[in-house]
Amino acid sequence: MTATITRTAPAQMLAEFRSKQRAISVIGLGYVGLPLALELAKQFRVIGFDISAERVAMMQRGEDPSEELDSTAFLEKDITFTADPGLLKDASFHIVAVPTPVSEARVPNLNPLIGASETVGRALKKEDIVVYESTVYPGCTEEDCIPILERVSGLTFGQDFFAGYSPERINPGDKEHTVDKILKIVSGSDPETLEIVSGIYGAVITAGIYEASTIKVAEAAKVIENAQRDINISFVNELSMIFNRMGIDTQEVLAAAGTKWNFLKFRPGLVGGHCISVDPYYLLHKSKQLGYDPQVIASGRRVNDGMPGFIAKELTQLLLQRNLNPKSCKVLVMGATFKENVADIRNSKIFDVIQELMDFGINVQLIDPHASPNEVAQEYKFSMQDEAGKDYDAVIVGVAHEEYRSLDMNYFRNLIKADQDLILFDLKAIYSRETVRSNEVIWRL
Ligand SMILES: NC(=O)c1ccc[n+]([C@@H]2O[C@H](COP(=O)([O-])OP(=O)(O)OC[C@H]3O[C@@H](n4cnc5c(N)ncnc54)[C@H](O)[C@@H]3O)[C@@H](O)[C@H]2O)c1
Repeated sequence: MTATITRTAPAQMLAEFRSKQRAISVIGLGYVGLPLALELAKQFRVIGFDISAERVAMMQRGEDPSEELDSTAFLEKDITFTADPGLLKDASFHIVAVPTPVSEARVPNLNPLIGASETVGRALKKEDIVVYESTVYPGCTEEDCIPILERVSGLTFGQDFFAGYSPERINPGDKEHTVDKILKIVSGSDPETLEIVSGIYGAVITAGIYEASTIKVAEAAKVIENAQRDINISFVNELSMIFNRMGIDTQEVLAAAGTKWNFLKFRPGLVGGHCISVDPYYLLHKSKQLGYDPQVIASGRRVNDGMPGFIAKELTQLLLQRNLNPKSCKVLVMGATFKENVADIRNSKIFDVIQELMDFGINVQLIDPHASPNEVAQEYKFSMQDEAGKDYDAVIVGVAHEEYRSLDMNYFRNLIKADQDLILFDLKAIYSRETVRSNEVIWRL
């Protein structure tokens, strides 16, 4: 017979966290982990661990490597930033928030999650709780991560240590919906664990807590939130391709249809970034493993991934219609990040548009006030310009950065070769077309 440990009662355990007798660790301090760790550190003793010593050094100086938080966010917080996994032994509640990307073949790459689970496993003690925050497919916590914790620690799950899953819903660049103001789903491997997980998050999340019935339900809830957005955007992207052939403006159609009370207001566009364009592949993967080949989710992904090619083809055709040889054309792309007003260039689909244009022989230049030229060079092997040049054949505004919204048609006319009429690809439909002259083209999705 295996001896079950006598567990500290949840109320007592929570009191020990509040009195700082026990500490909380956060593993992976990126867009998700750092704001959460700082929020928890308002009330609890927190150990913030990251594998990157460089990022840890920045946080020790009060700088957010993801550029989401300003230095005041680091003030008056009980937090130790470290790249030393040995310090994790001091914590009894571990939160894992490492990346969950896909490989080139678009299947889940669990390496960061496996690495983090091994790190936590080495620090695990009896009564510890491990909560995963990374977006995964249903079953990943219990089937992939917990066995690693057991193997590395030599402890038994459900008897010596316990687990939970609590997905994150933050939205990079959004200063309003900060971590404390977003209702948080929590789950636990048994009722006592759930009570402790709820108590810890409930202490800092003012928007409230939703207790999911199981870890799998909580995992599934997160992944479908993003798959739903992906599918809805793919529908309007498909409409955009259909209406383009019909010579109908999609934005005008959406404005008209949007007058119905239950019409969903999604807008066409490039779907990139670390979440919406990635998470559906986790669900696809698990479903296929279980013998069901998803149709709707997969077709949504296909449509959205095809948008860069569609945009590049439309622009090239326009150049050809004006008797311009693409090989001697120069196009300015404004906006490198995956969405507006952020510095994040990960999985930004504008680079697919650029690649497609370059495949047609077009010379492409890129500017962005938010993106780091070094990161762009490293990640995409592409050199950005410091500022816009002149004598372009066309301009693409790919991201609705605040700095771009106030630009007018004269700004764009001045970027174009003197003897040519304006071609502007307004991918986010941010410009009014009222002042456009008859021979000018303002194309939008
Ligand atoms: N970015 C978002 O808006 C968002 C929103 C909701 C959910 N998520 C999910 O949250 C998870 C984390 O995403 P993110 O955007 O914060 O990632 P991120 O890339 O911003 O940060 C991840 C951090 O983890 C560190 N790291 C990587 N491997 C590690 C390891 N083995 N041990 C310790 N640290 C490690 C990295 O150095 C980095 O600092 C992902 O699963 C993502 O899908 C992200």
